[in-house]
Amino acid sequence: MVGGARLAGEVTVTGAKNSVLKLMAASLLAEGTTVLTGVPRIVDVSIMTELLRRLGCVVQGTPTKLGITVPERPGHEADYDLVRRMRASICVLGPLLARCGEVRVALPGGDNIGSRGLNWHIDGLAKMGASVQSSHGFLVASAPRLAGASIWLDFPSVGATENLLMAAVLAKGRTVIDNAAREPEVVDLCELLQAMGAEIGGVGTSTLEIEGVESLTPATHATVPDRVVAGTFAIGAVMTRGDVVVVNGRAGHLEIALDKLCTAGATVELLEEGFRVAMTERPRAVDVVTLPYPGFSTDLQPGMIALAGISDGTAMITENVFESRFMFIDELIRLGADIRTDGHHAVVRGREVLSGAPVRATDIRAGAGLVLAGLVADGVTTVSDVHHIDRGYQDFVQQLQGLGADVRREPEDDQRP
Ligand code: EPU
Repeated sequence: MVGGARLAGEVTVTGAKNSVLKLMAASLLAEGTTVLTGVPRIVDVSIMTELLRRLGCVVQGTPTKLGITVPERPGHEADYDLVRRMRASICVLGPLLARCGEVRVALPGGDNIGSRGLNWHIDGLAKMGASVQSSHGFLVASAPRLAGASIWLDFPSVGATENLLMAAVLAKGRTVIDNAAREPEVVDLCELLQAMGAEIGGVGTSTLEIEGVESLTPATHATVPDRVVAGTFAIGAVMTRGDVVVVNGRAGHLEIALDKLCTAGATVELLEEGFRVAMTERPRAVDVVTLPYPGFSTDLQPGMIALAGISDGTAMITENVFESRFMFIDELIRLGADIRTDGHHAVVRGREVLSGAPVRATDIRAGAGLVLAGLVADGVTTVSDVHHIDRGYQDFVQQLQGLGADVRREPEDDQRP
C-alpha cells in the first residue's frame, strides 16, 4: 500500500467473529436447524463450519446466513488440525459435554499473543461434576449429566464464561457464574441461548444465573455487529484525518474507544445506521489501558499504538489482558515508530510521519494495526502473512479501497522470502 490517502465514505460492518463462532458452537445444544444471520465471510467461520461438519452437522446457506442442522447424536471430538488453526474451536467443549456427556477437544497449544490457559474452563466444568483430563494432546471430559454449581472466575475470561454458560444451560439445577465476562459477544450468546429456551438471568452483568433445562430447541438469531472491525475503521479515520461513516457500528459497544478518539481530536456523531468519525488535524497522544469489557478492548490495542505512533505527544499504552500482545511493536518500529516497552507498558513518542517498509503481521489484530500504520506511512508498505487478517476481517482490502486507500492484495506466496 502507498500511504497518504484520506479514508472517507461509508463502510459496513458485518457480524462479529468473536460472537458468531460461539453462536455456531451453541447450535450443537439443540437437535434441528439453528439459523444465524449477519455471518461474516471470514476464514475462522470456514474452520468452524468444517468442525461442525465433522461432528455430523449439515451447514448450509448464503454467505451471510447459515443454517446449522444438528443431528440427534453429534460427534464429540474436535481434531488437532482444526483446533491448531483456530484456538476458538475450544468453545465446543462446553456444549458437546452438555449434549453428549463426553467430549475430546485437542489442546490448542500456544499462540502469538501469549500463553493462553484453559484452567478456568476446566475448573468450572469440574465444579459442575465433570471429570476432565489431559491425555495425548486432548482435553477429555465426561459427565453423564452436569450439575449446577457456584463458580467464581478469578478473571472475567470471555472463553471460560462462554463454555461454562453453554454447559450450564443443560445442567441439572442452578449454576451461578460470578465475575463473568460482560462482552457484547457474551450477551449475544446469552440471547441466542434464551431464544433456544435457556433460562439465564443477569445477562450483561458480571453474575450470570442459569437454571438448567432438559432440552433446547433451535432458533434464528442475528449476530451482533463486530465492534473490533468498527473500531479499526474508526481509528483509521482518525489516523488519516478522514471522515468515515461506520454503518452497522454500535457506538454503545465502543464507548471508551470512541471517547479516546475524541480526546485525540476527532468528532464522533451517532447516526441511526451507525456512527461517523471525522478528523481534521494531527491527532493528540492518548493513553490507553486494556481491560475486560466495558474497559478498552485489547483487540483494538495494536490500532491505538499505530495511532499513537503518529500523534502529537507521548502516549502510554498498557496491555492487561494478553501477555505477548506487544510482539508486533518491532514491526511498527520498522516503519519508523518510536516505541519502548517495559513489561506490559509501551511508551510511544509520536512522529510526524512513518516511513513505508516491508513488515509482517504476527496475529490478526497486529496485522490490522500494521495496515493502519501503512496507510499513513510515507511510500510503500508491504504487510506479509496477511492470512492472519483474513481470519477476522471480511474483504478488508476492498473495504479500504472503497474508502479511498491506495492498497492492493498480492498473492501471499509472492510475499514470502
Ligand atoms: N486465561 C487463563 N485461563 C483460562 C482462560 C483465560 O489464564 O482458563 C487468560 C488468557 O491467557 C488471557 C486472559 O485470561 O491472558 C483473557 O482470556 P479470555 O479467556 O478472556 O480470552 P479468550 O476467550 O481466549 C476472547 C477473544 C479474543 C479477545 C479476548 C478478550 C474469541 C475467539 N477470542 O479470547 O479475541 O481478545 O476474548 O476480549 O472470542 C481476537 O479476536 O484477536 C482475539 C484474540
